[in-house]
Amino acid sequence: MLARRELPDEYRRWNDRWGVPFGRHRLPVQLLERSGALGRVALARPALRRWRGPFAFQWNTRTRTYEYPWVRGQLVRAGARRVLEIGGALSGLQFALAADGMSVCNVDPFLDYGSGAYEIDPAAEHAMLNRVFGTTVELCRTTLPEARPTGPFDAAVCVSTLEHLRPADIEETLAVVRDVVVPGGIVVLTVDLFLDLDPFTDVEENRWGRNVPVAWIEELLGGELVVGDRTELLGYPEFDVRHVLTELGSLTMGSEYPQLAQLAVVRCP
Ligand SMILES: C[S@@+](CC[C@H](N)C(=O)[O-])C[C@H]1O[C@@H](n2cnc3c(N)ncnc32)[C@H](O)[C@@H]1O
Repeated sequence: MLARRELPDEYRRWNDRWGVPFGRHRLPVQLLERSGALGRVALARPALRRWRGPFAFQWNTRTRTYEYPWVRGQLVRAGARRVLEIGGALSGLQFALAADGMSVCNVDPFLDYGSGAYEIDPAAEHAMLNRVFGTTVELCRTTLPEARPTGPFDAAVCVSTLEHLRPADIEETLAVVRDVVVPGGIVVLTVDLFLDLDPFTDVEENRWGRNVPVAWIEELLGGELVVGDRTELLGYPEFDVRHVLTELGSLTMGSEYPQLAQLAVVRCP
């Protein structure tokens, strides 16, 4: 399926609890940001970071308002305890999942994926966020093929990452996922669908990446799509451009880019 504009009550409650998608208390934070060095010192204090919540420390798109609680719901439904996050960056999801009792390993090389290089040391920031939120999320600062994390994991999660990778990197990444997720475990995916690219236009690539067929991801994983509406997932014969365009009014879209979010769960063999 594609992420909707309308949120189920359960998602709304979870988002309120964690401050999804941009963190809490934005107005006082913006005032502190504008008030120079003293404001920046105040913002770095652990108590203030805790007050803002784990989602305040990475730029996000509006579609995450649906994506994050949906991903968390899939993991809870599957009873996942040990979770591999691919490309978790400094997103709050890993900390919120860990605070909910899951053991999370985030593999991310912290590359510039289109919005500029990091101005801070992301590993130091990650360690700080673990301290602030009382979590123990493991960080492997490299790509998934390089990291070779010790499995098995009950589930892998990949939020808006595969569309930024080259096809060969996607193949290598998913080959490792196959190795480290338990047989019958799940891969929970959100994959951007860009309206300025094929199959909506003749263009193959934009500054963020490509439209990646979810059907191809399922094939690479050698698994079975267990959650997802094929009429809204690229690569399936049922995928229907007209249906997607007709549904646009009910879909959540990035506020700064014409991007929708495809949602799918693949069960590993
Ligand atoms: C758009 S960001 C991810 C956003 C994040 N998951 C979220 O919830 O906001 C894409 C991330 O993928 C990471 N990345 C790129 N190639 C990777 C690979 N082969 N394995 C793991 N992470 C990768 C980048 O460093 C970047 O942080």
